[in-house]
Amino acid sequence: MKKKWWHEKVAYQIYPKSFCDTNGDGVGDLRGIISKLDYLKELGVDLVWISPIYCSPMADQGYDISDYYNIDPLFGNMEDMDELMAEAKKRDIGIVMDLVVNHCSDEHEWFRKACEDPNGKYGKYFYIEEVKDGKLPSNIRSYFGGSCWEALPGHPDKYYLHLFHKKQPDLNWENPEVREEIFTMVNWWLEKGLAGFRIDAIINVKKSLPWKNYPADRDDGLSYVGNMLKEVSCHDFLTELRDRTFAKYNAFSVGEVFDEHEDTLPDFIGDDGYFSTMFDMSTAVCGASEKGWYDRPHITANEYRDAVFSSQKKAWNVGFLSNIIENHDQPRGVSHYLPDGEVNDTSKKMLATLHFMVRGIPFIYQGQEIGMENVDFTSMDQIDDVMTHDEYQVALRAGLSPEEALESVKKMSRDNARVPFSWDASEYAGFTTGKPWLMNNPDYTRINLASQRQDEHSVYQYYRQLIQLRKNPEYKDTIVWGKTVPVYTDQDNLTAFYRQGEDQTLLVIANYQKEPQTITLEADVKNVLLNNCGEFQQKEKKLQLEGYQAVVLEMH
Ligand code: GLC
Ligand code: CA
Repeated sequence: MKKKWWHEKVAYQIYPKSFCDTNGDGVGDLRGIISKLDYLKELGVDLVWISPIYCSPMADQGYDISDYYNIDPLFGNMEDMDELMAEAKKRDIGIVMDLVVNHCSDEHEWFRKACEDPNGKYGKYFYIEEVKDGKLPSNIRSYFGGSCWEALPGHPDKYYLHLFHKKQPDLNWENPEVREEIFTMVNWWLEKGLAGFRIDAIINVKKSLPWKNYPADRDDGLSYVGNMLKEVSCHDFLTELRDRTFAKYNAFSVGEVFDEHEDTLPDFIGDDGYFSTMFDMSTAVCGASEKGWYDRPHITANEYRDAVFSSQKKAWNVGFLSNIIENHDQPRGVSHYLPDGEVNDTSKKMLATLHFMVRGIPFIYQGQEIGMENVDFTSMDQIDDVMTHDEYQVALRAGLSPEEALESVKKMSRDNARVPFSWDASEYAGFTTGKPWLMNNPDYTRINLASQRQDEHSVYQYYRQLIQLRKNPEYKDTIVWGKTVPVYTDQDNLTAFYRQGEDQTLLVIANYQKEPQTITLEADVKNVLLNNCGEFQQKEKKLQLEGYQAVVLEMH
């Protein structure tokens, strides 16, 4: 595998609306990010991915872009952006933007012009179809619910495709002019000095044509988007994207890829793959049900371990995955992956240890480093996210009472991670002097950065230790490059693996349950590099682990 500059980095995701507000309008902004660069440096991150900040009507929180060349006034302006890049650079931090090009906003000039003249140049930028007798071109369900076809404003006989929200019309990548527009835009940003892009929803760019119906998988008569996507390959589009943009700048690129076909991983992240890396979504999709969020069981310790190990195995010899426990589309990792009632500082640190010690590029989502938890929403009115509202209706239709429906969707809601960052215990958690656009997590007096900064045993300080260990010249090669070799897999609720470097072996052990557990070491311990709780209890070859204890050991 060719070594690249990004392999050893640690990345951090910012959800800009909820990170830090500096002008009191209740919405985070670019000046807020600038003001926290020293903090990010203190934590130890090298790359900062910012969710979309381009001009947008915010139907899907900025993932609906109306102008790719400008910053939404909500966040600031281009001078702020230039300053952010320059200040980040001074601190050796690279800025990564979100690249949302499967679709744009229905308020983008291209779409407006397409509505004015569907047969003209811009009509061909989208998928617009004639509809006779109300018969839609296909029965695909949009990701946010309902048909993916919507009447074109002003043209009741024409429908356009939107795999996401109806305010997010899909761009027609089959049209070379559309691809040209995209490449020009990407390069314009890279010229400005961006370190790279996170590529949104990219697996959706290739559609299976001609349109047709697929077997319905819910009682709405519609079919999951993946049923169409699995018939086609994005290979040509993504190869061209890479060659025309990222490759020319040696830029970092991380793909958001779900449902990639089997055996295509090398195409995505191999030495000459489309992207530098892609997110490992294996734990995020674990237990997902076709019926909807309401039908989703809590993931178990063994399922978590098996998902992680199978990704490690799949990517070994191929390339680097990017590891996450949460992002702006997921609930908080500590609430999702740890059993109810067992979410505490020790178990949070255990999860962090697993997240950081397997091979791959670790991404921290804002607030993860202080162990932010899911929000105890008490009403659907507190939730903004379009997807949660849709899933709530799905749950009601399945026969759940309103209370049960709320209980079930709030566990998965994307707003769990989208509430403001809890900086301190003051009003609105120090996020804003105004009123936040989305409620704070009410637990902010208990969980916030200010108190954890002062406490050497906090989750925050533990994250710093994990990052320092990854950067420690003594262990870096093994942690970045070493092979992940699972061990003790016949013990339940235990995730353990070696990281094998050239002349070094580390052993990572996590007791993923509240009861203690004992293991028998296969070699002698040379050094205890990290320990998330209490004593290190070793008697000869027996190692006794407390509930949720995690250790990183250097072995002889
Ligand atoms: C990605 C984003 C998500 C967004 C969707 C549509 O999955 O992460 O937030 O809703 O794409 O752009
Ligand atoms: Ca603001």
